Amino acid sequence: MNTPESPLNFVLDGSELPFAPGETVLQAATRAGRYIPHLCWHPDFAAHGSCRLCHVKVNGRLVASCTQPASAALEVESDTEEINAQRKTLLQMLFVEGNHFCPSCEKSGNCLLQATAYQMGMTGPHFEEFYPDRPVDASHPDILLDLNRCILCSLCVRASHEIDGKNVFATGGRGRTRHLLVNSDSGRLADTQLTLDDRAARICPVGAILPKRRGFAIPIGQRRFDLQPLAPTPPKVLP
Ligand code: SF4
Ligand code: FES
Repeated sequence: MNTPESPLNFVLDGSELPFAPGETVLQAATRAGRYIPHLCWHPDFAAHGSCRLCHVKVNGRLVASCTQPASAALEVESDTEEINAQRKTLLQMLFVEGNHFCPSCEKSGNCLLQATAYQMGMTGPHFEEFYPDRPVDASHPDILLDLNRCILCSLCVRASHEIDGKNVFATGGRGRTRHLLVNSDSGRLADTQLTLDDRAARICPVGAILPKRRGFAIPIGQRRFDLQPLAPTPPKVLP
């Protein structure tokens, strides 16, 4: 219960969680060490609200936790069988929409899509693969762009615009034809100002934007999610 003296709290999966005014449910949960699955959200950027992995039930209604303002009246459900089943379906759709060959991907073990799929108990694609014909742009001397793995989270677009001030990336098309674009006359990465130091070159949560000549510097089995897989955080009872 919130009183004038007590910190502001809402309830997440049955336990109270404090929040600061102006925070979203996902921001407050992350700050408190509670993990709500997400793909297009990053703490350094405004929410994009496109991947739908972060959806939770708030007072019985499904909403994106990355855009839902936290408030004291909220009863939030995230780690439930029903919501996790919906997340698994979304992941299965993402996997068949692109071409994700995890065993041969340099990002394997560091990939948020792969780690979230493991977390949700995904053991196979379930749906028939689209096998879309997507290009690989290897024109840049230092950076590879493989659109087969792009999940259109738009983080590279936001990073290039908001942090690097370059607008190297954009998105175009709608629905199934929506895709990532490179902002240059030729449409090739080599003809942009992108450099390895750019935030946009390092923020991709999957293996779509990768530095060249750095393959397997950290062996498979010793990477971020190999060492610490994503797992639902146990409900924490706050004093
Ligand atoms: Fe997101 Fe990576 Fe695709 Fe950019 S290239 S939209 S960061 S998945
Ligand atoms: Fe909220 Fe993607 S993290 S919609």
